[in-house]
Amino acid sequence: MEIQLNAVPHADRPLLEILHLKKHYPVTRGLLKRTVGYVKAVDDVSLTIYPGQTLGLVGESGSGKTTLAHSVMRGITPTAGSVIFHDDHLGPVDVASADPAALRHVRRNMQMVFQDPFSSLNPRMTVLDIIAEPLQVNQIAKGKAAQERVAELLQLVGLRPEYMRRFPHAFSGGQRQRIVVARALALNPRLVLLDEPTSALDVSIQAQTLNLLKDLQSRLNLSYLFISHDLGVVEHVSDTVAVMYVGRVVEVAPTRKLYQQPKHPYTEALLSSIPKPDPTRKKRRIAIAGEIPNPANPPPGCHFHPRCPYAQPICAHEAPPLREVTPGQFAACHFSDELNLKGVNDF
Ligand SMILES: Nc1ncnc2c1ncn2[C@@H]1O[C@H](COP(=O)(O)OP(=O)(O)OP(=O)(O)O)[C@@H](O)[C@H]1O
Ligand SMILES: [Mg+2]
Repeated sequence: MEIQLNAVPHADRPLLEILHLKKHYPVTRGLLKRTVGYVKAVDDVSLTIYPGQTLGLVGESGSGKTTLAHSVMRGITPTAGSVIFHDDHLGPVDVASADPAALRHVRRNMQMVFQDPFSSLNPRMTVLDIIAEPLQVNQIAKGKAAQERVAELLQLVGLRPEYMRRFPHAFSGGQRQRIVVARALALNPRLVLLDEPTSALDVSIQAQTLNLLKDLQSRLNLSYLFISHDLGVVEHVSDTVAVMYVGRVVEVAPTRKLYQQPKHPYTEALLSSIPKPDPTRKKRRIAIAGEIPNPANPPPGCHFHPRCPYAQPICAHEAPPLREVTPGQFAACHFSDELNLKGVNDF
C-alpha cells in the first residue's frame, strides 16, 4: 500500500520522499555468530520533505531517529525501501540504490549536522581548512577563491571572517556549531539533516542557534529534517512533525494539529511531559507506564500497547496501519477516531 503523506498542502513537489524505509540490524549469538533475530531500528517508514520546509522528528531514545537520518544519507545502507531525492539536474534519484556518481552528486545536496560541536571539528585544522575542505574535495574552489567563499560562509552564520585562521578550541560551543553549519552549507545543499543540533548547547545559546537556522532556511530556501527529543524546540521550528516509536512512525501531522489535537496516545504522552514555564501551574503528567521495549523483541500488534492507557484486546495482536485521521494528519492507532486526546495546552 502506498502512503501519500500530504501533511502540508503544497503546490511544490516534494524534495525528498522516504518510502517504506527499513534498517534491520542482525542480532547474532555464539561463536558462529548465528543470526537469532533483528533489531528493527527503522521499520517501514514513509515521510515527505518539501522545499523550504522543516520536518521535525521526535521520539524517545532508541526509537530510530539517527538511524533514519543515516539511512537517508546512505551513511548506512538501508535494508529495504527507497529515498527519492528530487534533484534539479538529475531528476528523481533513489539514494538507497544510486550508483557512485549519482550518489556523490546527490550527497552534495544533502548535509548532516550532529549534536556535538566539540567532536565534529578536527582540533588540528583551522576554521579555514575545516570549511574549505568540502570545496577542495569536490574541486569547487581552492586557494584565494576558497578563502573568499569561507569568508562569505562565516558571515552568513554570524561569525567574523577574521576568525578563519583560528583553531576550534578558540570558540565557544555555540560558535563551533556555527562553524559546523557553515561547513554544511559550503556546497549549497538543498536539504540539511540536523540531529539534535542544539542539545549540547546552553539554553540561551540554543535559542540563538535555532534563530540562525530559521534565518538561513528562509534566506537559502533550505529544507530541514530536524531531529530532537525536545518537543518544545521541535514545535518552534517545524512545519510538519513525525513521531517515532520503536522504529515506526506512529503519527505525522502539521505542527499545530499534532500539538493541539494529537491522534495517537503516544503523542499525547509525549506532549504531557513537556516542561511548563509556569511553575505554579499544576502539571498532570501522564506517566508512561513501563519501559521503552527492547527493539530486538518488540511487543506484537501495536508496539505501544503495553504502555497505552487506552489499549484494547485488538491492540495486542493487530498492528494498526498509519492512516489519515483528519485532513493531513496520519496516525497509527485503532482508536484514533474515538479517543479524545489532550493537546499540549490541556495539561
Ligand atoms: N550499528 C548498530 N547495530 C545494532 N543496533 C543498532 C546499531 N545502531 C543503532 N542500533 C539500535 O537501533 C535502535 C535505534 O537507534 P538510534 O540511534 O537510531 O535511535 P535514536 O532515536 O537516534 O536515539 P537517541 O535519541 O538516543 O539518539 C536502538 O535500539 C539502537 O540500539
Ligand atoms: Mg540519535
